[in-house]
Amino acid sequence: MPEDNKVQRIYSSRNNLELAERYDQWAKDYETDLEKDFCYLGPQYATELFTRHVPREARILDAGAGTGLVGELLARQGYSNLVAMDLSRGMLDEAAKKNVYRELQQMVMGEPLAFDTGSFDAVISVGVLTVGHAPASSLDELVRITRPGGYIVFTLRPDVYQNSGFKEKQLSLESTGRWKLVEVSDELQTLPKGEPDVYSQTWVYQVT
Ligand SMILES: C[S@@+](CC[C@H](N)C(=O)[O-])C[C@H]1O[C@@H](n2cnc3c(N)ncnc32)[C@H](O)[C@@H]1O
Repeated sequence: MPEDNKVQRIYSSRNNLELAERYDQWAKDYETDLEKDFCYLGPQYATELFTRHVPREARILDAGAGTGLVGELLARQGYSNLVAMDLSRGMLDEAAKKNVYRELQQMVMGEPLAFDTGSFDAVISVGVLTVGHAPASSLDELVRITRPGGYIVFTLRPDVYQNSGFKEKQLSLESTGRWKLVEVSDELQTLPKGEPDVYSQTWVYQVT
């Protein structure tokens, strides 16, 4: 199936340059493919938890914003101070068309981010902290740019949490007093149609 191949192509990228090129090429068809063939629910699940904790006037970073599905849902919920960041210019160009982001910035999670310390009230990252995308070390920078008392909300597959350094990083940020766990969702199917065996959880942390 061509859509399966597109996802496989993404996951077989050998470095960030190749990953960005492949997302650039997928950008125009990304939403149609995910909705039609996978019934993608990640953004809905994550924004549901996010809205329980983050006030509407918050300045929010959508980290790995892609085509802006998360921003669109947040805007519908009354959030208006949104910044999009992604490594793919093609994905950001699609996100710009949604007219919900005040800024769109091309940056790479896992590298230092060009945002001031404590400059966001909240960060949301859906479908980005995963194998071959943003590594566990990205969380250090997300914590740095979020003000004390602010929230970081992200989705993560349970197997990636266990096996790719996230468990250690998340626990270490907790034991060193950088953040505290507020809530973690049940394991839910985020691609029930295309990949029914893939589960994901939404994690909510508060920076301390
Ligand atoms: C599966 S898409 C998710 C997009 C959007 N959050 C959503 O839920 O539809 C993953 C996005 O993360 C971006 N991405 C992957 N690795 C990244 C990294 N290291 N830094 C920043 N963005 C990254 C990709 O370009 C892509 O737009």
